[in-house]
Amino acid sequence: MKLTIIGGGSTYTPEIVDGLVRLRRQLDITELALQDVSADRLAVLAAMSRRMLAAGDHLATVSTHTDIASAADGADIVLVQLRVGGQAARLQDETLPLQCDCLGQETTGAGGLAKALRTVPVMLQVAKEVRAVNPTAWLIDFTNPVGIVTRALLEAGHERVVGLCSAAVVFQQHFAKVLDVAPQRITLDHVGLNHLTWERRVLLDGTDVLPQLLAEHGDRVARATGLPTELVRRLGTVPSYYLHYYYAHDEVVAEQKTHGVRAQEVMEIESQLLAQYADEQVTGKPDLLSRRGGAYYSQAALDLMASLRRGDSRVHVLNVRNSSALPFLPPDAVVEVAATITPDGAVAQPVEPVEPLIAGLIAHVTAYEQLALEAAVHGGRKRVFRALLAHPLIGQHAIADRLTDLLIAGNREHLPWA
Ligand code: G6P
Repeated sequence: MKLTIIGGGSTYTPEIVDGLVRLRRQLDITELALQDVSADRLAVLAAMSRRMLAAGDHLATVSTHTDIASAADGADIVLVQLRVGGQAARLQDETLPLQCDCLGQETTGAGGLAKALRTVPVMLQVAKEVRAVNPTAWLIDFTNPVGIVTRALLEAGHERVVGLCSAAVVFQQHFAKVLDVAPQRITLDHVGLNHLTWERRVLLDGTDVLPQLLAEHGDRVARATGLPTELVRRLGTVPSYYLHYYYAHDEVVAEQKTHGVRAQEVMEIESQLLAQYADEQVTGKPDLLSRRGGAYYSQAALDLMASLRRGDSRVHVLNVRNSSALPFLPPDAVVEVAATITPDGAVAQPVEPVEPLIAGLIAHVTAYEQLALEAAVHGGRKRVFRALLAHPLIGQHAIADRLTDLLIAGNREHLPWA
């Protein structure tokens, strides 16, 4: 089968290639097509991918493309992992909101809105070009903000689209390590929106061990959330790391103002990674890649690809259309829950009723995501303002007005309507 990666010049590509090598018996990839707007990055990542495949006795060929049509033609799966504006735009997403004492983060809050405004129009164009040559390939979106982007693609009428995030797999592995068991024995009751999720139960061979995890290993569990152990115990659920941007917003902002933001670290990691990828002696995934947040995303991606390929009924945590899974949300919202694959698309599994403490925030952020999508698709200052006003981390009109101007001015080159 042919696997296409749009944004193949990303420093994450060796993560996927590493997965292809590890799982070469489960997934019959014969061609890896890398597409990127940067021919230079493409050349470096293609050469690195070829060395990794050869070192792992994988027979797949690697082709390179700067256009989407030739890359997607004949592909069975098209994975999209692009970053409009690169790390420079991310740095801005993480710093502009700090001017208003708001969180500086690339997917959450005002920074996430800026990213959505830049990314959604590009993703819609990518999907259109893919579909023009290939109406049936599965589209996997790993491009942030995953929830809003997936909703944009589904609302534009694209089927066989799934949004993927590594959050659940990372927790599954973390809990397995804490309990000293194989990760496959653990399934999660994972609910929410992308980057706004809670683990409500941790099932070890079908039995919920979360109470035991919190009682006996509270510190290790809480460390992965960025929140105090005592709070996580009181909640009785394990919130994603992104929830600490809500539950400890002011503390995080104070720290960002004094300690700098993540984009600066990532820029440094990326330049070192690119130097390693350009070194012909390097034939395996560098350890340095484990310092990126999506370091283990190939686990989730490859598992999913195997199911898409086989059409099996295995359950994956995915970003999919809500339908009736969370009855307090509109059916066309995109939620991050356990889902199964059908020939037409991924379908959310039924979800146990959600308690108000969680449901309130999910509903609030869903409304923001709907307004963010409207702003990204149709443009206009008024729509950007409404999305910011609706966001639970912003919400005040004077701040929303000021941020609207900052975001539009800072992203003008990426916003066709500005
Ligand atoms: C996690 C999230 C991704 C996000 C990444 C950030 O993996 O699921 O959506 O992009 O962290 O990692 P970074 O190394 O870019 O800060």
